[in-house]
Amino acid sequence: MIKTELAIEFFEIESMDELSENEQRLIKLSKEATKNSYAPYSNFYVGAAVLLESGETILGANQENAAYPSGLCAERVALFYANSKYPQQAVCAIAIAAANQKGILNELIAPCGSCRQVMLETEQRYEKEIKIFLVGDEKVFLINGVQSLLPMHFNKSHLSL
Ligand code: THU
Repeated sequence: MIKTELAIEFFEIESMDELSENEQRLIKLSKEATKNSYAPYSNFYVGAAVLLESGETILGANQENAAYPSGLCAERVALFYANSKYPQQAVCAIAIAAANQKGILNELIAPCGSCRQVMLETEQRYEKEIKIFLVGDEKVFLINGVQSLLPMHFNKSHLSL
């Protein structure tokens, strides 16, 4: 058998000066968006902020439901809202932060598989790589493009095989 390895890369931001003003604002807004979470079952409050090519930002927060699978993650709330309000606008970046009852978590929260799949589709739909910022209380990681979050993914080109 032949072994093949896939490498992924991500960056730890050393100084906020490395980012554009829009990106710095996006990171701040993702933390603020955790306050709009409705998470009475998990008490895990996730905020997502999406930056569109127009410079506009759209916020989302996880919304839970007593019938658990009916809830939705913050990332998909924000992306679906952005894409339905501005279907012509490409998504440039998304910042994701999480909090518990004590406040913003230091740990960086990586998006779930379903959110990665939706980010991938958004990237392909607008033919624009999305910058993904994982936001902790102090640290920020940057992932350039969904390919690094979801290697060997299923995508729409497989449907025409
Ligand atoms: N959650 C998100 O909003 N985003 C993620 O990437 C992971 C999980 C939400 C779903 C649920 O409301 C809570 O966090 C606990 O899983």
